[in-house]
Amino acid sequence: MAIVINGTAYPLPDDPRVSLLDLLRERLGLTGTKLGCNQGGCGACTVIVDGARVLSCLTLAVQADGREVRTIEGLPSDDGQLHPLQQAFIEHDGLQCGYCTPGQICSAVAMVDELRRGDPSYVTADLATGPESATRQEIRERMSGNLCRCGAHNGIVEAIEAMLAGAAP
Ligand code: FES
Ligand code: FES
Repeated sequence: MAIVINGTAYPLPDDPRVSLLDLLRERLGLTGTKLGCNQGGCGACTVIVDGARVLSCLTLAVQADGREVRTIEGLPSDDGQLHPLQQAFIEHDGLQCGYCTPGQICSAVAMVDELRRGDPSYVTADLATGPESATRQEIRERMSGNLCRCGAHNGIVEAIEAMLAGAAP
């Protein structure tokens, strides 16, 4: 049993009760992923598993057996360049204390893929055709599971819009 995290394979913990969040933070030292509510309500622990965003506090590590996990540490390119969304967060003041930021960014990276696939959201008018475009309303709705206690939501949405406008990955 193994899990691939940011391109490196790690053995899964013997204890099946260990959450993916605790595996990342407490056992592997990948502390970029944050512990907030520990009950699925804040989004601070969001990571990307096989391209989809998941709450690592509600995911057992064993559920990620054989899957690819990407955390905030795995987003910059090999040459150390920030992911375009990380750069956009800096340029658009998408953060203040930074605690929610890794979860916001991981969530947004996977959310953009959902938009591009045409997955509908609660505010999508026509579920059959999917979202017409990445409107501000669509972005806000899709990011509503990631809370920011500093109130940086406007900058976060602007950063996502900027990344989408740049057609970045
Ligand atoms: S720590 Fe996982 S949702 Fe809050
Ligand atoms: S930047 Fe402080 S909680 Fe979001």
